Amino acid sequence: MNHQNEIMIKEDTTDENGLNTMSDQENTKKGLGEKWPEPTVRVQSLAESNLATVPDRYIKPPSERPDQTIIINHQPQTAAINIPVVDLNSLFSGNEDERERMSEACREFGFFQVINHGVRPELMEAAREAWRSFFNLPVEAKEVYSNSPSTYEGYGSRLGVEKGAILDWNDYYFLHYLPLVLKDLNKWPSIPSNIREVLDEYGEELVKLGERLTRVLSSNLGLKEEQLKEAFGGEDVGACMRVNYYPKCPRPELALGLSPHSDPGGLTILLPDDKVVGLQVRYGDTWITVNSHPHAFIVNLGDQIQILSNSIYKSSEHRVIVNSQKERVSLAFFYNPKSDIPIQPLQQLVTSTNPPLYPPMSFDEYRLFIRTQGPRGKSYVESHISPLDN
Ligand code: OGA
Ligand code: NI
Repeated sequence: MNHQNEIMIKEDTTDENGLNTMSDQENTKKGLGEKWPEPTVRVQSLAESNLATVPDRYIKPPSERPDQTIIINHQPQTAAINIPVVDLNSLFSGNEDERERMSEACREFGFFQVINHGVRPELMEAAREAWRSFFNLPVEAKEVYSNSPSTYEGYGSRLGVEKGAILDWNDYYFLHYLPLVLKDLNKWPSIPSNIREVLDEYGEELVKLGERLTRVLSSNLGLKEEQLKEAFGGEDVGACMRVNYYPKCPRPELALGLSPHSDPGGLTILLPDDKVVGLQVRYGDTWITVNSHPHAFIVNLGDQIQILSNSIYKSSEHRVIVNSQKERVSLAFFYNPKSDIPIQPLQQLVTSTNPPLYPPMSFDEYRLFIRTQGPRGKSYVESHISPLDN
């Protein structure tokens, strides 16, 4: 499908709820146009130029810098505390302890890891290695996939369009799986030669995993198994992937690989680097470095789940630290609601003592916050709370 058709289809979408369906043209009007506010600098290029320090644009103010002791201990064994591990096979065989562990993790952390999840370890490995090869290509080979703020698809190096913003120490690749009208293989890398085939299968498997997890979340919330998926738009759910590449950083104590944020969408299923830690989850006033179980996926709940569950489940705030020894690659797969339907607290989870905390908003509108302003902790979901006195 060519680009022109894609825009026409989006414009033809009827919006019986009075919500904005954001077309590329409307994004352009809102400032998410075809150009970044400044020339793009690839972090990989900076890392390869053997700088003694990092450029000012990447230096965080002192209060936002990561804790130095954690960076020195970048080895998984020494740095990390495990987040709850849920054995999905066992859960689906009726093990109530597993179900309870997942339920508790969703209420407390918004974060857990899953093992025996049904995705072949060879496929996970193949996807990670394909992306490692891609990011190891010379920067020039990747520039043909250079992205723009209007859709974010392709090779990028910043989130947000604010001129002069402090940037994170990563390059990334963003692509769509669902809806099928947005899946465009021409926007996927073609090198290494097997990458499209591997990514296609990986996407199919992760959509299935996203569905299974959504069913468990739904019944753990006391809803019918299918209800959460229905609220996501049924067969019209969205799915996309952001692959993160964190080059070595000469001054890891001054910068962040990814600033604190919660994911704006539904569920995130992360395949972390198997050799290098970096992901940290906020727990109260501390940041816990995630040490992942071999062959596990790390699952975290996004803002749309917090909204649909009326805050029974919390989206998690997380960030990524970098180090001077090893680069890191992670694959973040996002299982999202259909982008143009209203998302609001589910009726069954609203009572007179628990009134709806959030007004309806489509995911397209919601994600504009992060797409324009970049990562800002949990401020978007927190500012979205309905004023109770109205
Ligand atoms: C993300 C993310 C974590 C990581 O892409 O949203 O939080 O470990 N990634 O790279
Ligand atoms: Ni994230």
